[in-house]
Amino acid sequence: VIAQVRQPTRVGVLGASGATGRVAATELAKLPEIELLLGGRDRARLRSATDGRLRRRETRLVDVDDDASLQRFCAECEVVVNCAGPSAAIRDRVARVAVAAGSHYVDPGGDEEVVAELTESWREPAEAGLACVFSAGWIPGLSGILARYVDGLAREQMDEVGAVELYCGDSNVWSDTGFEDALSLFSRYPGPLHYEGGRPVHRRLGRAGTLRRVALPAPVGTRVAVSWFLSELRALARASDGAVRSYVVPLGSPATAAAMGLGVALVERAPRAAARLLRKATALDARRHEALGFLAASAQPADVASPERLTVVVVERRHYWITGLVCALAVETLLGGRLSTPTGCHYLCDAVDPVEFMGELAARGVHMHATGVSEADRSGGERVLALA
Ligand SMILES: NC(=O)c1ccc[n+]([C@@H]2O[C@H](COP(=O)([O-])OP(=O)(O)OC[C@H]3O[C@@H](n4cnc5c(N)ncnc54)[C@H](OP(=O)(O)O)[C@@H]3O)[C@@H](O)[C@H]2O)c1
Repeated sequence: VIAQVRQPTRVGVLGASGATGRVAATELAKLPEIELLLGGRDRARLRSATDGRLRRRETRLVDVDDDASLQRFCAECEVVVNCAGPSAAIRDRVARVAVAAGSHYVDPGGDEEVVAELTESWREPAEAGLACVFSAGWIPGLSGILARYVDGLAREQMDEVGAVELYCGDSNVWSDTGFEDALSLFSRYPGPLHYEGGRPVHRRLGRAGTLRRVALPAPVGTRVAVSWFLSELRALARASDGAVRSYVVPLGSPATAAAMGLGVALVERAPRAAARLLRKATALDARRHEALGFLAASAQPADVASPERLTVVVVERRHYWITGLVCALAVETLLGGRLSTPTGCHYLCDAVDPVEFMGELAARGVHMHATGVSEADRSGGERVLALA
């Protein structure tokens, strides 16, 4: 049972002057009965970020590295939304202080290694009747929800689901904080992995299936995909009889790929310099081609000879908007008592109803479309499907 909340509910957005924090705060301000506390290290940056336009909001000076100010901030909030970063540096610091102060916690990111550990073994939030939700953003976040959504649709429509695959790519110019987190994650990646029949299968890069050419729906087209297991898919993969695989699809130029390689080598010693290098290369790409973010999840039946396929694609060109929107919707779901696992520490995709969440996003203007081939229309090829 979710801890009793007072009215109006005080929601604190930490890092509210940042790119994700601004969108999350703007979306949260649309909710009735919410009072926003905008937290950051610089009052002028906080004011200019939100331009004084948000209803019922106050600012608070808070530095994540200063225990006293962080504790004061968390103690004032029913929910702490941590949009400060980088996650690789903050680790579980804010989550632990928030839970100790009796607040729910929502994070659009979270260091993957730390989150994997917390979701497996951190019991305090459940014992305190609190929800602690990580990976409540775009990738990870909506990526995991889409995979669960397609898995659910396929189970209704196919005799037996053989595999669920997720593809994701994004060529947007993220903040130094965002690129630092991405590079830090890449630098620690233990190598390609997927799940088969609920068990992990490790492969070396270049071995069968770890690099593949895929034809994805427009505007993505035919691309090379690199096997990359998103940790948020682990619970889905463990519970599945079939295979669960995920891939990243690099969308940048060869120069950006080189900057990425150099960034990965540099990130541990000089994280900001590594992030700037990658940001500059990505910004050059964005001048030549319109940036794009996409997710595509696909299911196929266990009978490999069957032509049946189900694919749902989300294409986003509004960049940070989708990350902040998913984060704000996670808070709204929590406060509405609609988390499917209302307490404890979870990835967002394991804590919400995917059909309901995708429906809410569609109602807010997120574009998604589904295509499929069923046994019945074998000769007719792909057709557009109605989404649940
Ligand atoms: N899942 C996804 O798809 C996704 C996408 C993008 C980002 N993210 C994650 O979201 C988080 C924010 O990224 P972003 O791109 O929005 O970063 P950003 O624009 O650089 O914003 C970072 C914010 O953190 C604040 N901050 C930094 N150090 C702080 C400290 N010691 N105490 C208090 N505040 C501090 C900064 O505020 P001041 O400097 O003004 O104090 C700033 O407002 C990161 O963890 C990132 O990995 C996730």
